Amino acid sequence: GLRIGSLLKDTGRVTYDPGFANTASTSSAVTYIDGDEGILRHRGYSIEDLAENSTFVEVAYLLIYGELPTQEQLDSFDARLRRHTIVHEDLRRFFQAFPYDAHPMPMVSASIMAMSTFYQDNLSVFDDEQIDLSTIRLLAKMPTIAALAHRKVAGLPVVHPDNSLNIVENFLRVNFGFPSEPYEVDPLMAKAMDQLFILHADHEQNCSTSTVRMVGSSQANLFQSISAGVNALAGPLHGGANSAVLEMLEEISESHDGPQKFMERVKNKEQGVRLMGFGHRVYKNYDPRAAIIKKTAHEIIDQMSGADEMLDLAMSLEEIALADDYFVERSLYPNVDFYTGLIYKAMGFPTNMFTVLFAVGRLPGWIAQWREMIKDPETKIGRPRQIYTGEPERKYVPIAER
Ligand code: ACO
Repeated sequence: GLRIGSLLKDTGRVTYDPGFANTASTSSAVTYIDGDEGILRHRGYSIEDLAENSTFVEVAYLLIYGELPTQEQLDSFDARLRRHTIVHEDLRRFFQAFPYDAHPMPMVSASIMAMSTFYQDNLSVFDDEQIDLSTIRLLAKMPTIAALAHRKVAGLPVVHPDNSLNIVENFLRVNFGFPSEPYEVDPLMAKAMDQLFILHADHEQNCSTSTVRMVGSSQANLFQSISAGVNALAGPLHGGANSAVLEMLEEISESHDGPQKFMERVKNKEQGVRLMGFGHRVYKNYDPRAAIIKKTAHEIIDQMSGADEMLDLAMSLEEIALADDYFVERSLYPNVDFYTGLIYKAMGFPTNMFTVLFAVGRLPGWIAQWREMIKDPETKIGRPRQIYTGEPERKYVPIAER
């Protein structure tokens, strides 16, 4: 079946499939999804098992290298990550130049792009050691870059990483710590952050991952490809949905109209009004990631801020949707983003940072998919066809006669 594409290669036939809803762009051994059954597995391991028993660093290793690490492999991977957390001072200065009210997503994608200018001797897409060094640099520096964007937006001084902390603990430190002071890690918050990153780590050929592969298929380097992925993630129909959910909940809450009235607007398809955090191209069943995060949302929100008014509102929207024909007929269930924003808010992140948090979590998946793409002998430059609908050939009319 996988070779059909090659067989059709020279027939001149073109398939038309908007949004690639039925077109496989690649074969892949990284992630398996069964959208009807609500199954998600990385390298054969269920997301439930990974979320319960694993760590983000371990899942990153699994996605990128294909196997769960031994203790020795994990220690060495972890040590390499800790060594590379600091960004070049000149890169850090970029953040002084961005406007104070800029959105953090473009700051992050621009910084990843800029990283390629600092590591010019490590950009070969054919040298395994160079690819591996870029992999480590990206994984280690992404949390630092994300936090620089956060501190910039918040007007807070930069906190440098402390390499006695693991990647997730350090992420909390650089976001919420104070310069030159040790950071006391809250174990509940660290566990929740780690689990959220695991739940976002990969999701096969979604919009941003397909973008990373498409850009990489021209043999653009890892930094260029990942920077493009961050931009694809930014839209509200993809990673941007997590902040859109919170904005939606705040709007409902402030309007005092109640959830029922909002749902009527959704069902009447008022322009721009969708139940954000609901629906998925592949899942026509409960998103397994949403099921996991819903379970922990209560515990985390109760302990961190007591902001459960919003959680109650989200639960009632879900309850209405699951009993309503509009949503049932279209198989619309909560996706991963429906509950995550509430947790990020409880942790103290501003709303415009939510999609950056998604990007930090998704990074190992993008890298694993890019590496698989670059090694795959079947990879060709991504170059879709089109159905031309414009004018037939016309005679050129001189400007005086138009
Ligand atoms: N609220 C209301 N109606 C919806 C929603 C929603 N969230 N999602 C889909 N629908 C309706 C559509 O209007 C359409 O109805 P119709 O058949 O009467 O025209 C039908 O369900 C099918 O929707 P499509 O947009 O064709 O489905 P598609 O697979 O193209 O889109 C998507 C999937 C983009 C996720 C969509 O469900 C959506 O916009 N959801 C809200 C945004 C969101 O939460 N995005 C996050 C996705 S997950 C992620 O990136 C991690």
